[in-house]
Amino acid sequence: MTSPNSEQTQGSATSWNDNYETGHPSVDAEHRELIRQLEELKVAVDAGAGREHVTDLLVILQRYAHGHFAREEAHMARVKCPAHGANCAAHKEFSDRLDGWLELLTQGATPLSLVRDVQSESMSWIQRHILKIDCQLRHCAPHKDTLASAG
Ligand SMILES: [Fe+2]
Repeated sequence: MTSPNSEQTQGSATSWNDNYETGHPSVDAEHRELIRQLEELKVAVDAGAGREHVTDLLVILQRYAHGHFAREEAHMARVKCPAHGANCAAHKEFSDRLDGWLELLTQGATPLSLVRDVQSESMSWIQRHILKIDCQLRHCAPHKDTLASAG
């Protein structure tokens, strides 16, 4: 296997890096899981997985992302993070895009190659989003990290 991004292709190496840490362990754990799911999708696409399998992975990602966004928004509101409003707007925009991509894929009228774009766009989006918006949580008290109990 060769890849221009070989540091991201080893089993234990991930697209995660410590710059993404918000200082709120529950949020960080969920971000790691989102990135893990996107890496799993990339592995599947690279291995030539079929439409059904990649669609299943995307549905899992969609559900997890929706849950994560809701929990993170509730958490940001609780700790009075100034990025709360921008975070909600960004989540809504990305959720709508993800829903649209999935609709196209499940209709079957779209080439499967769309998934490669969805994967790379989603990975870029989550990484940018964490850095630009979620990391503003660093200014908020981490002892109020109660994401897990957010409904
Ligand atoms: Fe966020």
